[in-house]
Amino acid sequence: MVEHLRRSTREEREQWIREANYNLFKLKSEQVFIDLLTDSGTGAMSDRQWSEMMLGDESYAGASSYFKMKDTIREILGFEYFLPTHQGRAAENVLFSALVKAGDIIPGNSHFDTTKGHIEFRKAKAVDCTIAEAFDTTVNHPFKGNLDLNKLEDVLKSHPKEKVPFIVVTVTCNSSGGQPVSMENLRGVRQLADKYGIMVVFDSARFAENAYFIKTREAGYAGKTIREIVLEMFSYADAMTMSSKKDAIVNMGGFIGMRSKELFEKASVFNIMFEGYITYGGMSGRDMNALAQGLREGTCFDYLETRISQVAYLGQRLVDFGVPVQQPFGGHAIFVDAKRFLPQLPREQFQAQTLAVELYLEGGVRGVEIGALLADRDPETRENRYPALELLRLTIPRRVYTNNHMDYVATALANVYERRNSIIKGLKITGEAPIMRHFTVDLAKV
Ligand code: F0G
Repeated sequence: MVEHLRRSTREEREQWIREANYNLFKLKSEQVFIDLLTDSGTGAMSDRQWSEMMLGDESYAGASSYFKMKDTIREILGFEYFLPTHQGRAAENVLFSALVKAGDIIPGNSHFDTTKGHIEFRKAKAVDCTIAEAFDTTVNHPFKGNLDLNKLEDVLKSHPKEKVPFIVVTVTCNSSGGQPVSMENLRGVRQLADKYGIMVVFDSARFAENAYFIKTREAGYAGKTIREIVLEMFSYADAMTMSSKKDAIVNMGGFIGMRSKELFEKASVFNIMFEGYITYGGMSGRDMNALAQGLREGTCFDYLETRISQVAYLGQRLVDFGVPVQQPFGGHAIFVDAKRFLPQLPREQFQAQTLAVELYLEGGVRGVEIGALLADRDPETRENRYPALELLRLTIPRRVYTNNHMDYVATALANVYERRNSIIKGLKITGEAPIMRHFTVDLAKV
Protein backbone atom coordinates (compact mmCIF):
# COMPACT_ATOMS: atom_id res chain seq x y z
CA MET A 1 0.00 0.00 0.00
CA VAL A 2 1.23 3.50 -0.73
CA GLU A 3 -0.09 6.33 1.38
CA HIS A 4 -0.19 10.00 0.63
CA LEU A 5 1.81 12.15 3.05
CA ARG A 6 0.98 15.81 3.42
CA ARG A 7 3.63 18.41 4.05
CA SER A 8 2.77 21.44 6.14
CA THR A 9 4.26 24.79 7.02
CA ARG A 10 5.71 25.77 10.38
CA GLU A 11 2.88 28.30 10.81
CA GLU A 12 0.27 25.57 10.31
CA ARG A 13 2.02 23.29 12.77
CA GLU A 14 2.24 26.05 15.36
CA GLN A 15 -1.50 26.52 15.15
CA TRP A 16 -2.29 22.77 15.18
CA ILE A 17 -0.11 21.95 18.18
CA ARG A 18 -1.61 24.89 20.10
CA GLU A 19 -5.10 23.60 19.28
CA ALA A 20 -3.97 20.13 20.46
CA ASN A 21 -2.89 21.65 23.80
CA TYR A 22 0.69 20.53 23.13
CA ASN A 23 -0.37 16.88 23.30
CA LEU A 24 0.74 15.03 20.15
CA PHE A 25 -1.93 12.34 20.68
CA LYS A 26 -4.51 15.04 19.96
CA LEU A 27 -3.20 15.88 16.47
CA LYS A 28 -5.06 14.63 13.41
CA SER A 29 -2.98 12.13 11.43
CA GLU A 30 -3.05 14.41 8.38
CA GLN A 31 -1.32 17.08 10.44
CA VAL A 32 1.69 14.73 10.77
CA PHE A 33 4.28 14.26 8.02
CA ILE A 34 6.24 11.32 9.48
CA ASP A 35 4.49 9.45 12.26
CA LEU A 36 6.81 7.83 14.80
CA LEU A 37 4.28 7.91 17.64
CA THR A 38 4.21 4.14 17.86
CA ASP A 39 5.01 0.86 16.14
CA SER A 40 1.72 -0.49 17.48
CA GLY A 41 -0.80 -1.42 14.80
CA THR A 42 0.96 0.86 12.32
CA GLY A 43 2.83 -1.80 10.34
CA ALA A 44 2.02 -2.72 6.73
CA MET A 45 0.49 -6.16 6.25
CA SER A 46 2.00 -8.45 3.61
CA ASP A 47 0.40 -9.93 0.49
CA ARG A 48 0.04 -13.20 2.37
CA GLN A 49 -1.65 -11.56 5.32
CA TRP A 50 -4.13 -9.84 3.01
CA SER A 51 -4.77 -13.20 1.32
CA GLU A 52 -5.49 -14.69 4.74
CA MET A 53 -8.05 -11.92 5.32
CA MET A 54 -10.08 -13.36 2.43
CA LEU A 55 -10.13 -16.78 4.08
CA GLY A 56 -11.45 -15.61 7.45
CA ASP A 57 -14.13 -17.75 9.06
CA GLU A 58 -16.60 -15.53 10.90
CA SER A 59 -18.47 -18.29 12.74
CA TYR A 60 -19.31 -17.23 16.28
CA ALA A 61 -17.95 -20.43 17.84
CA GLY A 62 -15.29 -22.87 16.68
CA ALA A 63 -14.20 -20.90 13.60
CA SER A 64 -11.37 -22.38 11.53
CA SER A 65 -9.57 -19.02 12.00
CA TYR A 66 -9.49 -19.66 15.75
CA PHE A 67 -7.90 -23.06 15.19
CA LYS A 68 -5.38 -21.58 12.75
CA MET A 69 -4.33 -19.11 15.43
CA LYS A 70 -4.30 -21.80 18.11
CA ASP A 71 -2.11 -24.13 16.05
CA THR A 72 0.30 -21.32 15.18
CA ILE A 73 0.63 -20.24 18.82
CA ARG A 74 1.29 -23.83 19.88
CA GLU A 75 3.88 -24.32 17.13
CA ILE A 76 5.76 -21.00 17.44
CA LEU A 77 5.34 -20.10 21.12
CA GLY A 78 4.70 -23.51 22.65
CA PHE A 79 1.52 -22.67 24.63
CA GLU A 80 -1.17 -25.31 24.77
CA TYR A 81 -3.97 -22.97 25.89
CA PHE A 82 -4.81 -19.55 24.50
CA LEU A 83 -7.47 -16.86 24.54
CA PRO A 84 -7.85 -14.23 21.81
CA THR A 85 -8.37 -10.62 22.94
CA HIS A 86 -8.79 -7.40 21.00
CA GLN A 87 -5.36 -6.03 21.96
CA GLY A 88 -2.54 -6.31 24.52
CA ARG A 89 -4.09 -4.37 27.39
CA ALA A 90 -7.25 -6.44 27.02
CA ALA A 91 -5.12 -9.55 27.51
CA GLU A 92 -3.73 -7.91 30.65
CA ASN A 93 -7.22 -7.04 31.84
CA VAL A 94 -8.46 -10.61 31.44
CA LEU A 95 -5.40 -12.34 32.90
CA PHE A 96 -4.97 -9.89 35.78
CA SER A 97 -8.68 -10.16 36.64
CA ALA A 98 -8.00 -13.84 37.23
CA LEU A 99 -4.74 -13.35 39.15
CA VAL A 100 -4.31 -9.93 40.82
CA LYS A 101 -5.96 -8.69 44.01
CA ALA A 102 -5.61 -5.55 46.16
CA GLY A 103 -2.35 -5.42 48.11
CA ASP A 104 -0.44 -7.71 45.74
CA ILE A 105 3.12 -7.06 44.64
CA ILE A 106 4.17 -7.66 41.04
CA PRO A 107 7.90 -7.40 40.36
CA GLY A 108 9.18 -6.96 36.81
CA ASN A 109 11.46 -5.04 34.44
CA SER A 110 10.10 -1.52 33.93
CA HIS A 111 6.45 -2.53 33.48
CA PHE A 112 4.81 -1.00 30.42
CA ASP A 113 2.27 1.74 31.27
CA THR A 114 -0.87 -0.31 30.54
CA THR A 115 0.55 -3.22 32.54
CA LYS A 116 1.29 -0.93 35.46
CA GLY A 117 -2.12 0.71 34.98
CA HIS A 118 -3.90 -2.64 35.24
CA ILE A 119 -1.87 -3.48 38.35
CA GLU A 120 -2.46 -0.14 40.09
CA PHE A 121 -6.12 -0.04 39.05
CA ARG A 122 -6.50 -3.21 41.16
CA LYS A 123 -4.72 -1.50 44.09
CA ALA A 124 -1.69 -3.73 43.68
CA LYS A 125 1.89 -2.54 43.31
CA ALA A 126 4.41 -2.87 40.47
CA VAL A 127 8.01 -3.09 41.69
CA ASP A 128 10.71 -2.30 39.16
CA CYS A 129 13.69 -4.68 39.29
CA THR A 130 15.45 -3.60 36.07
CA ILE A 131 19.27 -3.55 36.17
CA ALA A 132 20.76 -0.15 37.03
CA GLU A 133 22.68 0.03 33.71
CA ALA A 134 19.36 0.54 31.90
CA PHE A 135 18.96 3.98 33.44
CA ASP A 136 22.23 5.41 32.13
CA THR A 137 21.88 5.99 28.38
CA THR A 138 25.67 6.20 27.95
CA VAL A 139 26.39 2.70 29.31
CA ASN A 140 26.68 0.14 26.52
CA HIS A 141 25.18 -3.06 27.99
CA PRO A 142 23.87 -5.66 25.48
CA PHE A 143 20.80 -6.60 27.57
CA LYS A 144 19.47 -3.48 29.25
CA GLY A 145 16.07 -5.15 29.64
CA ASN A 146 17.49 -7.62 32.18
CA LEU A 147 16.14 -7.93 35.70
CA ASP A 148 18.52 -7.50 38.59
CA LEU A 149 18.15 -10.97 40.10
CA ASN A 150 19.29 -9.76 43.53
CA LYS A 151 16.62 -7.05 43.57
CA LEU A 152 14.06 -9.59 42.42
CA GLU A 153 15.05 -12.08 45.09
CA ASP A 154 14.81 -9.35 47.75
CA VAL A 155 11.21 -8.71 46.69
CA LEU A 156 10.35 -12.42 46.68
CA LYS A 157 12.04 -12.93 50.04
CA SER A 158 10.33 -10.03 51.75
CA HIS A 159 6.72 -10.83 50.78
CA PRO A 160 4.63 -13.92 51.41
CA LYS A 161 4.06 -16.07 48.34
CA GLU A 162 0.31 -15.32 48.39
CA LYS A 163 1.04 -11.61 47.84
CA VAL A 164 3.08 -12.17 44.66
CA PRO A 165 0.78 -13.64 42.00
CA PHE A 166 3.51 -13.56 39.31
CA ILE A 167 6.68 -11.92 38.03
CA VAL A 168 6.18 -10.03 34.76
CA VAL A 169 9.03 -9.95 32.25
CA THR A 170 8.60 -7.59 29.30
CA VAL A 171 10.41 -8.74 26.15
CA THR A 172 11.79 -6.49 24.78
CA CYS A 173 11.54 -3.96 27.57
CA ASN A 174 9.73 -1.01 25.98
CA SER A 175 10.04 1.46 28.87
CA SER A 176 13.83 1.14 29.16
CA GLY A 177 14.29 1.71 25.44
CA GLY A 178 13.19 -1.37 23.49
CA GLN A 179 15.99 -3.22 25.26
CA PRO A 180 16.30 -7.01 25.20
CA VAL A 181 16.39 -9.53 28.04
CA SER A 182 19.05 -12.24 27.69
CA MET A 183 18.27 -15.93 27.73
CA GLU A 184 20.56 -16.29 30.73
CA ASN A 185 18.47 -13.72 32.59
CA LEU A 186 15.18 -15.38 31.62
CA ARG A 187 16.59 -18.64 32.94
CA GLY A 188 17.64 -16.89 36.15
CA VAL A 189 14.16 -15.46 36.65
CA ARG A 190 12.68 -18.93 36.14
CA GLN A 191 15.03 -20.43 38.73
CA LEU A 192 14.06 -17.80 41.31
CA ALA A 193 10.39 -18.23 40.48
CA ASP A 194 10.70 -21.98 41.04
CA LYS A 195 12.60 -21.45 44.29
CA TYR A 196 9.78 -19.26 45.67
CA GLY A 197 6.87 -20.99 43.93
CA ILE A 198 5.80 -17.97 41.85
CA MET A 199 4.43 -17.82 38.29
CA VAL A 200 6.25 -16.04 35.46
CA VAL A 201 4.28 -14.06 32.85
CA PHE A 202 5.92 -12.59 29.75
CA ASP A 203 4.60 -9.33 28.36
CA SER A 204 5.49 -10.42 24.85
CA ALA A 205 4.63 -7.60 22.41
CA ARG A 206 8.14 -7.60 20.89
CA PHE A 207 9.27 -11.15 21.68
CA ALA A 208 10.65 -11.76 18.17
CA GLU A 209 12.84 -8.65 18.33
CA ASN A 210 14.08 -9.93 21.69
CA ALA A 211 14.96 -13.27 20.04
CA TYR A 212 16.87 -11.42 17.31
CA PHE A 213 19.03 -9.71 19.94
CA ILE A 214 19.68 -13.02 21.71
CA LYS A 215 20.79 -14.53 18.40
CA THR A 216 23.07 -11.63 17.52
CA ARG A 217 24.42 -10.73 20.98
CA GLU A 218 24.38 -13.73 23.32
CA ALA A 219 27.08 -16.40 23.27
CA GLY A 220 25.83 -19.79 22.11
CA TYR A 221 22.83 -18.56 20.09
CA ALA A 222 24.31 -17.41 16.76
CA GLY A 223 23.69 -20.82 15.19
CA LYS A 224 20.10 -21.17 16.40
CA THR A 225 17.07 -20.08 14.39
CA ILE A 226 14.73 -17.34 15.66
CA ARG A 227 12.00 -19.96 16.12
CA GLU A 228 14.28 -22.15 18.27
CA ILE A 229 15.21 -19.17 20.39
CA VAL A 230 11.56 -18.10 20.75
CA LEU A 231 10.57 -21.57 21.94
CA GLU A 232 13.35 -21.60 24.50
CA MET A 233 12.43 -18.10 25.74
CA PHE A 234 8.81 -19.05 26.31
CA SER A 235 9.77 -22.36 27.94
CA TYR A 236 10.65 -20.20 30.97
CA ALA A 237 7.14 -18.65 31.20
CA ASP A 238 3.92 -20.01 32.67
CA ALA A 239 1.80 -17.58 30.72
CA MET A 240 2.12 -14.66 28.33
CA THR A 241 0.16 -11.63 27.22
CA MET A 242 0.55 -10.39 23.68
CA SER A 243 -0.16 -7.17 21.88
CA SER A 244 -0.18 -8.58 18.36
CA LYS A 245 -0.04 -5.05 16.97
CA LYS A 246 3.73 -5.21 17.25
CA ASP A 247 5.59 -8.43 16.37
CA ALA A 248 2.57 -10.16 14.81
CA ILE A 249 2.32 -7.17 12.39
CA VAL A 250 -1.45 -6.69 12.48
CA ASN A 251 -3.40 -3.48 12.99
CA MET A 252 -5.42 -4.85 15.89
CA GLY A 253 -5.34 -7.99 18.02
CA GLY A 254 -3.92 -9.71 21.05
CA PHE A 255 -3.98 -12.92 23.04
CA ILE A 256 -3.05 -14.74 26.22
CA GLY A 257 -0.99 -17.93 26.13
CA MET A 258 -1.13 -20.31 29.09
CA ARG A 259 0.23 -23.70 30.10
CA SER A 260 -2.31 -24.48 32.81
CA LYS A 261 -5.81 -25.67 32.02
CA GLU A 262 -6.98 -24.38 35.36
CA LEU A 263 -5.75 -20.85 34.64
CA PHE A 264 -7.25 -21.03 31.15
CA GLU A 265 -10.64 -21.90 32.62
CA LYS A 266 -10.43 -19.14 35.20
CA ALA A 267 -9.40 -16.54 32.62
CA SER A 268 -12.06 -17.74 30.15
CA VAL A 269 -14.79 -16.37 32.43
CA PHE A 270 -13.31 -12.86 32.22
CA ASN A 271 -12.64 -13.23 28.50
CA ILE A 272 -16.32 -13.94 27.89
CA MET A 273 -17.32 -10.99 30.09
CA PHE A 274 -14.93 -8.40 28.68
CA GLU A 275 -13.87 -9.55 25.20
CA GLY A 276 -16.17 -12.11 23.61
CA TYR A 277 -16.61 -15.85 23.35
CA ILE A 278 -13.38 -17.80 23.90
CA THR A 279 -12.93 -18.66 20.21
CA TYR A 280 -12.90 -15.05 19.02
CA GLY A 281 -12.32 -12.79 22.04
CA GLY A 282 -13.00 -9.49 20.28
CA MET A 283 -11.31 -10.40 17.02
CA SER A 284 -12.82 -11.06 13.60
CA GLY A 285 -11.99 -14.41 12.00
CA ARG A 286 -10.15 -12.64 9.19
CA ASP A 287 -8.03 -10.77 11.71
CA MET A 288 -7.13 -14.02 13.53
CA ASN A 289 -5.98 -15.43 10.16
CA ALA A 290 -3.81 -12.39 9.44
CA LEU A 291 -2.40 -12.57 12.96
CA ALA A 292 -1.41 -16.23 12.58
CA GLN A 293 0.34 -15.41 9.31
CA GLY A 294 1.97 -12.35 10.94
CA LEU A 295 3.44 -14.53 13.70
CA ARG A 296 5.14 -16.60 10.99
CA GLU A 297 6.52 -13.56 9.16
CA GLY A 298 7.49 -11.74 12.36
CA THR A 299 9.73 -14.63 13.39
CA CYS A 300 11.74 -14.74 10.12
CA PHE A 301 15.35 -13.73 10.57
CA ASP A 302 15.59 -11.75 7.30
CA TYR A 303 12.56 -9.64 8.16
CA LEU A 304 13.86 -8.95 11.69
CA GLU A 305 17.29 -8.03 10.43
CA THR A 306 15.85 -5.55 7.91
CA ARG A 307 13.64 -3.99 10.54
CA ILE A 308 16.13 -3.72 13.36
CA SER A 309 18.82 -2.46 10.97
CA GLN A 310 16.52 0.38 9.94
CA VAL A 311 16.08 1.39 13.58
CA ALA A 312 19.87 1.29 13.99
CA TYR A 313 20.27 3.35 10.81
CA LEU A 314 18.24 6.17 12.34
CA GLY A 315 20.13 5.77 15.63
CA GLN A 316 23.52 6.04 13.93
CA ARG A 317 22.48 9.12 11.94
CA LEU A 318 21.48 10.81 15.20
CA VAL A 319 24.68 9.77 16.97
CA ASP A 320 26.67 11.20 14.05
CA PHE A 321 24.88 14.51 14.60
CA GLY A 322 25.82 14.36 18.29
CA VAL A 323 22.25 13.79 19.53
CA PRO A 324 22.24 11.87 22.86
CA VAL A 325 20.30 8.58 22.55
CA GLN A 326 19.89 5.38 24.57
CA GLN A 327 22.75 3.02 23.65
CA PRO A 328 22.79 0.38 22.37
CA PHE A 329 19.87 1.09 20.02
CA GLY A 330 16.58 -0.63 20.83
CA GLY A 331 14.57 -2.98 18.67
CA HIS A 332 11.57 -0.86 17.74
CA ALA A 333 12.63 2.71 18.39
CA ILE A 334 15.37 5.19 19.06
CA PHE A 335 15.05 6.80 22.46
CA VAL A 336 16.45 10.33 22.66
CA ASP A 337 17.78 11.31 26.08
CA ALA A 338 15.89 14.55 26.77
CA LYS A 339 17.70 15.22 30.05
CA ARG A 340 20.98 15.42 28.16
CA PHE A 341 19.39 17.22 25.18
CA LEU A 342 17.70 19.96 27.23
CA PRO A 343 19.56 20.05 30.56
CA GLN A 344 18.59 23.70 31.06
CA LEU A 345 14.91 22.80 31.61
CA PRO A 346 13.72 21.68 35.04
CA ARG A 347 12.05 18.26 35.10
CA GLU A 348 8.81 19.89 36.25
CA GLN A 349 8.63 21.40 32.76
CA PHE A 350 8.56 18.00 31.03
CA GLN A 351 11.78 17.97 29.02
CA ALA A 352 10.89 15.02 26.76
CA GLN A 353 7.44 16.39 25.93
CA THR A 354 8.97 19.80 25.19
CA LEU A 355 11.44 18.11 22.85
CA ALA A 356 8.63 16.15 21.17
CA VAL A 357 6.77 19.41 20.50
CA GLU A 358 9.94 21.06 19.14
CA LEU A 359 10.56 18.16 16.73
CA TYR A 360 6.98 18.38 15.52
CA LEU A 361 7.29 22.13 14.96
CA GLU A 362 10.59 21.62 13.16
CA GLY A 363 9.58 18.95 10.67
CA GLY A 364 6.06 17.61 11.27
CA VAL A 365 7.59 14.48 12.85
CA ARG A 366 5.53 12.97 15.68
CA GLY A 367 7.44 11.08 18.38
CA VAL A 368 6.17 10.23 21.85
CA GLU A 369 7.17 11.13 25.38
CA ILE A 370 8.39 8.30 27.63
CA GLY A 371 9.03 10.32 30.77
CA ALA A 372 7.34 12.11 33.61
CA LEU A 373 3.99 12.58 31.86
CA LEU A 374 3.78 8.86 31.14
CA ALA A 375 5.04 7.98 34.63
CA ASP A 376 1.90 9.61 36.01
CA ARG A 377 1.27 10.40 39.67
CA ASP A 378 1.90 8.08 42.60
CA PRO A 379 -1.52 6.48 43.28
CA GLU A 380 -1.16 7.07 47.04
CA THR A 381 0.56 10.45 47.42
CA ARG A 382 -0.74 11.87 44.08
CA GLU A 383 2.69 13.47 43.60
CA ASN A 384 4.25 13.50 40.14
CA ARG A 385 6.62 10.57 39.63
CA TYR A 386 9.90 11.44 37.94
CA PRO A 387 11.43 8.34 36.35
CA ALA A 388 15.18 7.92 36.03
CA LEU A 389 14.97 8.47 32.29
CA GLU A 390 13.25 11.23 30.39
CA LEU A 391 13.01 10.02 26.79
CA LEU A 392 11.60 11.03 23.42
CA ARG A 393 10.78 7.81 21.59
CA LEU A 394 11.02 7.76 17.80
CA THR A 395 9.15 4.54 17.07
CA ILE A 396 9.49 2.97 13.64
CA PRO A 397 6.41 1.26 12.17
CA ARG A 398 7.14 -2.11 10.53
CA ARG A 399 7.55 -2.24 6.74
CA VAL A 400 6.29 1.33 6.24
CA TYR A 401 9.05 3.93 5.91
CA THR A 402 12.27 3.99 3.86
CA ASN A 403 15.68 5.11 5.03
CA ASN A 404 15.04 8.38 3.14
CA HIS A 405 12.35 9.07 5.70
CA MET A 406 14.86 8.24 8.45
CA ASP A 407 17.31 10.77 6.95
CA TYR A 408 14.60 13.41 7.06
CA VAL A 409 13.81 12.64 10.71
CA ALA A 410 17.49 12.70 11.71
CA THR A 411 18.03 16.04 9.98
CA ALA A 412 14.96 17.59 11.59
CA LEU A 413 16.12 16.52 15.05
CA ALA A 414 19.68 17.66 14.33
CA ASN A 415 18.26 21.11 13.50
CA VAL A 416 16.53 21.19 16.90
CA TYR A 417 19.78 20.04 18.51
CA GLU A 418 21.66 22.93 16.90
CA ARG A 419 19.28 25.47 18.42
CA ARG A 420 18.79 23.59 21.71
CA ASN A 421 20.18 26.41 23.87
CA SER A 422 17.41 28.72 22.68
CA ILE A 423 14.76 26.39 24.19
CA ILE A 424 14.44 27.89 27.64
CA LYS A 425 10.80 27.22 28.48
CA GLY A 426 8.99 23.94 28.80
CA LEU A 427 5.38 22.95 29.43
CA LYS A 428 2.94 22.76 32.32
CA ILE A 429 -0.16 20.63 32.85
CA THR A 430 -3.53 22.38 32.65
CA GLY A 431 -5.76 19.28 32.79
CA GLU A 432 -5.26 15.55 33.33
CA ALA A 433 -7.08 12.22 33.78
CA PRO A 434 -6.73 10.32 37.09
CA ILE A 435 -4.84 7.40 35.47
CA MET A 436 -2.82 7.02 32.25
CA ARG A 437 -2.97 10.77 31.85
CA HIS A 438 -0.50 11.07 28.97
CA PHE A 439 -3.05 10.11 26.31
CA THR A 440 -5.41 12.99 27.04
CA VAL A 441 -3.39 15.49 29.09
CA ASP A 442 -3.72 19.21 28.28
CA LEU A 443 -0.58 21.31 28.43
CA ALA A 444 0.41 24.93 28.00
CA LYS A 445 3.70 26.73 27.54
CA VAL A 446 5.25 27.81 30.82
N1 F0G B 1 2.97 -4.31 26.61
C1 F0G B 1 3.91 -3.62 25.94
C2 F0G B 1 5.35 -3.92 26.18
C3 F0G B 1 3.53 -2.61 25.05
O1 F0G B 1 4.46 -1.93 24.42
C4 F0G B 1 2.15 -2.36 24.85
C5 F0G B 1 1.70 -1.31 23.96
C6 F0G B 1 1.20 -3.11 25.56
C7 F0G B 1 1.66 -4.09 26.44
C8 F0G B 1 -0.27 -2.89 25.42
O2 F0G B 1 -0.71 -3.35 24.20
O3 F0G B 1 -1.52 -1.32 22.98
O4 F0G B 1 -2.16 -3.62 22.25
O5 F0G B 1 -3.10 -2.67 24.30
N2 F0G B 1 2.47 -0.45 23.48
C9 F0G B 1 2.15 0.60 22.52
C10 F0G B 1 3.33 1.49 22.38
C11 F0G B 1 0.89 1.33 22.78
O6 F0G B 1 3.18 2.54 21.71
O7 F0G B 1 4.41 1.18 22.87
P1 F0G B 1 -1.94 -2.69 23.40
